[in-house]
Amino acid sequence: MLRPLIAAAIAATAILPTAVTAGPIEDRKAIMKANGRDTKMAADMLKGAVPFDAAAANKILANYAAAAKAFPAHFPANSKTGGETEAAPAIWDKPADWKAATAKFQADTAAAAALKPGDAAGFGKAFGMVTANCKSCHEGFRIKKG
Ligand code: HEC
Repeated sequence: MLRPLIAAAIAATAILPTAVTAGPIEDRKAIMKANGRDTKMAADMLKGAVPFDAAAANKILANYAAAAKAFPAHFPANSKTGGETEAAPAIWDKPADWKAATAKFQADTAAAAALKPGDAAGFGKAFGMVTANCKSCHEGFRIKKG
């Protein structure tokens, strides 16, 4: 009779450590990882490596807009160091510049999603509006490793 309970307890503790250690660094990296996956999928569609799919394209644009909204909340002062992070000190040292970069990302991703492209040409335009932000923000606010 006890066995199922013990199994359940083991399963619960196995899940717990991840939930406890996940913090702002992990959260913001997860958001960016998803941006990376979406960007690869979008590029494949635009290259013709996979057929254009309007629903998938618009989902990617919606994902970017949601990511841009969520991202700035994951940079508390105590997450500057103390983990595996590539976030540059400029995020905290130049708060006005950082705010401008995150606000631009939000505005451009919202505008791109609002275009609701129905073909690859339209998606290419929306995608370009979004991805200009990746490069410029990484140049200013992400430490290049190795
Ligand atoms: C407003 C600034 C900003 C914008 C815009 C931005 N990034 Fe980032 N990105 C960062 C920062 C800061 C990090 C480092 C996060 C860390 O390590 O704590 C990062 C990290 C990453 C990473 C590495 C994640 C990991 O596994 O550690 C990927 C991939 C990435 N970005 C992709 C993108 C793509 C694709 C776009 C555009 C669609 C984008 N980023 C737009 C700031 C930005």
